[in-house]
Formats: sequence, structure tokens, C-alpha cells
Amino acid sequence: MKSAESIEALSKESRRFPPPPEFAAQANAQPGIYKEAERDYLAFWESWARKLDWSKPFTKILEWNEPFARWFGDGELNASVNCLDRHVRAGKGERIAYYYEGEPGDRRTISYKQLLDDVCRFANGLRKLGVKKGDRVAIYMPMILELPVAMLACARIGAAHSVIFGGFSPDSIVDRVNDAECVALITADQGWRRGNKVPLKRNCDAAMANTPSIKHCIVARRVGDPIEMKAGRDVWWDDVVKDQPGECAPEAMNAEDLLYLLYTSGTTAKPKGIKHTTGGYLTHVTMTHKLVFDLKESDVYWCAADIGWVTGHSYIVYGPLANLATSVIYEGTPDFPDKDRLWEIVERYKVNILYTAPTAIRTFMKWGDEYPRKHDLSTLRLLGSVGEPINPEAWMWYREHIGGNRCPVVDTWWQTETGGIMISPLPGVTATAPGSATYPLPGIAADIVNDQGESVPLGGGGYAVLTRPWPGMLRGIWGDDERYKQTYWSKFPHKYLAGDGARRDLDGNFWFMGRIDDVMNVSGHRISTTEVESAFVEHPKVAETAVCGKLDDVTGQAIYAFVSLRGGELGSTELADELREYVGNKLGKFTRPKYITFTQELPKTRSGKIMRRLLRDVAEGRTLGDTTTLADATIVKDLQDRAKSEASSADE
Ligand code: PRX
Repeated sequence: MKSAESIEALSKESRRFPPPPEFAAQANAQPGIYKEAERDYLAFWESWARKLDWSKPFTKILEWNEPFARWFGDGELNASVNCLDRHVRAGKGERIAYYYEGEPGDRRTISYKQLLDDVCRFANGLRKLGVKKGDRVAIYMPMILELPVAMLACARIGAAHSVIFGGFSPDSIVDRVNDAECVALITADQGWRRGNKVPLKRNCDAAMANTPSIKHCIVARRVGDPIEMKAGRDVWWDDVVKDQPGECAPEAMNAEDLLYLLYTSGTTAKPKGIKHTTGGYLTHVTMTHKLVFDLKESDVYWCAADIGWVTGHSYIVYGPLANLATSVIYEGTPDFPDKDRLWEIVERYKVNILYTAPTAIRTFMKWGDEYPRKHDLSTLRLLGSVGEPINPEAWMWYREHIGGNRCPVVDTWWQTETGGIMISPLPGVTATAPGSATYPLPGIAADIVNDQGESVPLGGGGYAVLTRPWPGMLRGIWGDDERYKQTYWSKFPHKYLAGDGARRDLDGNFWFMGRIDDVMNVSGHRISTTEVESAFVEHPKVAETAVCGKLDDVTGQAIYAFVSLRGGELGSTELADELREYVGNKLGKFTRPKYITFTQELPKTRSGKIMRRLLRDVAEGRTLGDTTTLADATIVKDLQDRAKSEASSADE
């Protein structure tokens, strides 16, 4: 949660920015749309679904057997056909699908027709390897064009993809691959990141020692250094597509057939395989992409996320392609070779719409406005933000220094589970407010409730909930219906619990405050405290640990670990570094804790429960709340002293 001070500050935020009249006049969404959608929300979604290409049109809209939804459940379609074939058929094959830019500076432009060709050839290759409808395929790749090709090829032959973010470690690959029993793993030799080579295939090799279901590992060549290839299992991408024709009959998929799994952190150590199906998901992402980003045929659109997260799935691959967008894909980091890389890209491709994360924006702020100033950003006409709460200062900086005070800024709230954007301004209609995601989109119903599940009047705060099904919603957790019900549908009857705290102002604008569960949000990456704790305790020296998030100016939250060692030892700086590496290697480098405070004992209640609330207070340097239930009060003072010195050394 945001600190009390920042909640206080947000409630004072009164700046409002109505849409510029020129923007409003040309916008895809016009003011009547909210009313129209509310009059009959099913008819609203139906009208968007009918814009897709169905090989068998649906007659049913929603079948709701709470909490299990079927949308357009008797229709058939194929996602890759909707993203590619229908555009080529309509004579738009020459349109550019992606401007690709690799980190070292290599560039490629790919048209819809070429993309279709690549997808078909790879899909044929997958079929030849024996991958079939109903299988699951893991994808662990850098941001190269083969990544969307692999996803769309899976969709074409009816295999669900499970993309694993390229920053994850071998152990994380193992967990995800085994949970879904994936039959194939698609990767690249290596990837580029800030000039370094990321050993993707080597990570896969380490993982594949423990993934019995994987029959084939397909390797795209990205960097070109020699790597090990295991005969009979590993095969080069180029060999898979060689001699394959550029046509491939798509599988007719039921609207409710699985399109993909995407694993996300929950409150336990085991990540959840979020299920997304075909028809409803495509409907949701096309509608939101078209209206929230006000996409026009002439636009160049850039979502600067990684495809390994849901933002990339929905707003680099499926939404934009279904809408015939021309997008930019960039492989690397924003500071390579220098801190103006993103702005250089905006200028080069004349980007009109930019979608990025608050962490990135705060980083750009820290670097200074001389970097964007070096470039012509005048083509930008709309800016988006996603992934975490955006503080008003960052929002204003984005608007001024990137958007030249002329572009509407849309702060879009959603989750892996929601599939697509849920709460966001419509840029030609909604007055925006710095730090607020404003209102639920047309067709979406959300509320804020108290502990009893009662709607909190405007002006108050509580739990963010969604109060009716929506087409892009998760269809459950892979292999665990019970966990799905428990996590999202059990706290309040008939309401989906998002896990976020939020407040509404008197105009009904939503202000999201952060997670209310044991999930941290570090640079927009969702990380469970329990997952990090379990990684720690596997280290032989660690006896016990408690992990929490600490507010951070750049990354939103940073990981804070309190660690007690076996034998009551107190650790050293060297051991802290070793533990950081250890956790990073277990889960992925982005989970390395920023702060580690050793303690002889964790503060516990007399019944032996770790007092997490108190640790969060210590981490944040707040005055402590009630400590009367503490078993041993002396350890807290000691902890506070240690935390203080830890914070000052880590922040240096
Ligand atoms: O806490 C919310 C935060 O990110 C969580 C979802 O994370 P994930 O599934 O990884 O998806 C991120 C990209 C959609 C939410 O529960 N979050 C996301 N967008 C916002 C946000 N918090 C505040 N404002 C947002 N715009």
C-alpha cells in the first residue's frame, strides 16, 4: 500500500485535464459510449465480438456459472487468422506490422503478409515435430520477432503458449513447464541486454534436466555464439522452418479453447497459471486497444513493455495485430548505448502513441529532461501508463517532458487476470487526473467495498472489486479451480477481488493504492513475498526470513528481507551479497532484494507468528504501531537500528 502520507497527498490532487478539443473531435470513443454500453453491456461486448472473423459465428454471448464464464461459447475462430489472414485478405498485406529494433542497432521491418508467411512456416514446422491442438508450448525468448511469430504459430495450430519472461531463472522455468506439462520449449541461443549476452539456451539446458514433458527445444539464432545442442531434442529454428510452405491451415478453435497460460505470482510460493481463452480475450483486447489508445490506421504505436508479461501479450501482440496496427518492438534497455535510446526510437519511427510503465517514467525523470529534449517527439499524440500506481509528479513530468503538454495521458489499471485494460480514461472523453486511472471502461463494472463487502460511498477507500464478468477475464488457474475460487471469489460473494486497495474521489475517479495482499510490485513486476522467502530458506545458512516491500522512488517498491541465520549468527555484507545472488539465481535477477537486514530473531507474537505489519513499519522507517503482543520487545529496537543503517547504505 502507499504510505499514509501519499494517500493523503493523492486526496488533495485536484488538477484535471479535459481532453483537448481537437483530440476529442477525432477520437474513436465519443461521449455517448458509456451510456450506450450501460444500457445493455452484453450487446456492447457482442458488437465488438462481431467485428472479429469467426469461422463459425456465435449465437450465445455469456454463460455465467459463477465464477466460471463462457463468452461467445458456441462460436469458432482462430486468433492468428484474426491477427493476420483477415488483414491480408482485405488487401492490407503490405502494411507494416512491426518496426523491429534490436539492442545492438539491427533493424527490420515486417509487413502483415511477411508475418503471416513466417507464422505459417513455423506453425507447419511445429506440427511436423508433433505439436498438436490442445498441447502447451513454453516460450522463453528475448524480444525478437521470432517471439510473436512463435506465439501466433501456437495459436494457429491450437497449442496454448506459456511465455516465460526471459529474466526468469532455470528453476522458474522448471516450475512453469512442469505445472503445464509443456511438450516443447522455444528459446534463442542468447539475448542482448545492456550490451551483455543473456544465456537463454543455457538456462533452458539447466531447466530441461528436470522437465520430463519437453520433447523438443527449438532455438532461434540471435547472438550467434556457439552453444550446445543436444541431438534428438534440440533443433534450430531455421531448420524447423526450412522447406515449409507459407500456408498453414488454421485450427478452428472454440471461443473458449485455451489461447495461453501466463504465470503470475500469488500469495503462495507457487505461481498461478492464469488461463486465457480465445474469443472473449480477443474481443476485450481489440476493443480496449482501439478505444483507449485511439488507434488510427496512420498511427505508429509503441508499447515498450516486454512480451513476457501480460502487457506485451495483449498490447504488443494480440490487440495491435487484431487492429491492424503498426507497432514498434525494441529488444533492449532504455539506457543502451545512452539514456536517450527510447527518444531516438520515437523520433526515428515517428511514434504517435507510447505506452510504458511508471518505473520507467520515474527513471527518465531521474536521468533528466535533457535526454528527451535531444529528440523530436512532436509526433506523439497520446501517452499511456501501466503496471503500478503512478505518482502525480511522474504523471506530470510524462505529460510535460514527453507529451509536450499536448498529449492526453491514460493511466490504465488492469492485471494479468483481467486480460485487458479495465479502468482507464478514454482519451477523447474523460478528463484525466494525475495519478488516477479514472473510470471503469464501457462494458466494465467495478466498485470499492469495505470489509463487509459493502460499497463504499464516493470519497472513501477500500478493496477494488469487479462486479460482473468481462470477456477477457481469466477462466481460472491451470489445474486448480479451487485456488481460483478461493483467491478471487471467496472474500466477497459475487465479486471478483482484485487484490488492490483503492479510493474513489467525489467524482468517482479511482485512485489505486497498491496491493493489499503479500504481493510486491517491483518495477511493475509482481513478486510474491512468500516466493522470495522460500528461495531464501533454501540457502544452508538461513534459518528464517520475512520479506516485505519498501516504498521506492524509482521502482515503486523494493524488496526488503529480514533474515535470521542458523546458529544465531549475524551476517556480513559479503553474506548479504551472496544471498542476493542466491535468490536472484533461484527466481530471476529482478527478484534480488535491495535491502537485507540480519537479525538474531524475527519479531513474533507469543503464539509464534511473525509480526509482518511491524516489519513493514521497520522497513519503512515508520514509528511502530502496537507492539504489546510481541514476545520479546528488545529485538525490535535492535532491528530498527540495523534497518536504519541498511537503508542508508543501500540508498547511497
Ligand atoms: O496492483 C495492480 C498493479 O499491478 C497489478 C497487476 O500486475 P500484473 O498482473 O503483473 O499486470 C500488470 C500489467 C497489467 C495490479 O493488481 N497495477 C497495474 N496497473 C496499475 C496498477 N496499479 C495502479 N495503477 C495502474 N494503472
